[in-house]
Amino acid sequence: MKRKVTKAIFPVAGMGTRFLPATKSVPKEIMTLVDRPLIQYAIDEARAAGIKEFIFVTSRGKGALEDYFDHAPQLEQELRKKGKTELLDIVKSTNMESGAIAYIRQHKALGLGHAVWCARRLIADEPFAVILPDDVIAADKPCLQQMVEAYAETGGNMVAAMEVAPESTSAYGVLDVADDMGALVKVRGMVEKPPVDKAPSNLAVIGRYILSPDVLCNLNKIKSGAGGEIQLTDAIAAEIAQNRGVYGYRFRGQRFDCGSKSGFLQATVAFGLAREDLRDDLSKYLRDIVHMDQAAE
Ligand code: UTP
Repeated sequence: MKRKVTKAIFPVAGMGTRFLPATKSVPKEIMTLVDRPLIQYAIDEARAAGIKEFIFVTSRGKGALEDYFDHAPQLEQELRKKGKTELLDIVKSTNMESGAIAYIRQHKALGLGHAVWCARRLIADEPFAVILPDDVIAADKPCLQQMVEAYAETGGNMVAAMEVAPESTSAYGVLDVADDMGALVKVRGMVEKPPVDKAPSNLAVIGRYILSPDVLCNLNKIKSGAGGEIQLTDAIAAEIAQNRGVYGYRFRGQRFDCGSKSGFLQATVAFGLAREDLRDDLSKYLRDIVHMDQAAE
């Protein structure tokens, strides 16, 4: 019987060097997309997919992240007193149930695979999700929910996949496809950041996974992969070698790479335009600057 996925790991121990100097003191995951920190988008997506236990793999300097999930009784009281019920509801919607969150330290940034492995004792022998909060996905049905529904049919292991330009494959984990069934693909191999001429396809893995606990055993055995880091991709690929299913899932939605400056700015514009209270002002501003640009040419 396939078990339900109720645990998710959020690896947030990276240093976020691409956002220095901001990330000297602000964890990347607390940076704000419109008016919510990146991590809130990830939590909301996980909740929609039925996740009940939220495991954060953190590191030194991520205190603001832990504070963010504390309840704020004083703030709530103040908003209540002032009759700001709308804001109060927004604040309350971010509250997490006591005991639903666990924090584990990754003492050294040895890679995504290592970060996931750090949470092994909390996962034990259940399937689990991994969400990278840098990958923000705008979708009618949240991406992880789409995957959980597909996983109920396949079991095994599942990674979110999307087509990228062939020249960009060297920035991703890339799938070697055995059987393309449309939204689902059966995978026969995976390579992390292949040179462009060695990429087996242009189907790239992005930051959503549903994994079997066997992947944690594979991580036990892996010393290091591409770039000297312990790669999650290698531990998933090892599942194929052991004849256990690995599937890619072409999700419906738009993914923004908020780990990069350009991706973050694009997400800010897209999420701003999606908000009724901001759309008119923002789109007018965008139209104006495009006209100014064109006039200057
Ligand atoms: P990135 O490759 O984006 O690294 O990690 P980073 O440190 O966050 O950012 P840059 O490249 O220095 O700007 C992808 C995800 O894996 C986590 C990160 O926190 C991020 O969510 N990660 C990475 C870890 O938790 N531990 C690691 O050792 C490496």
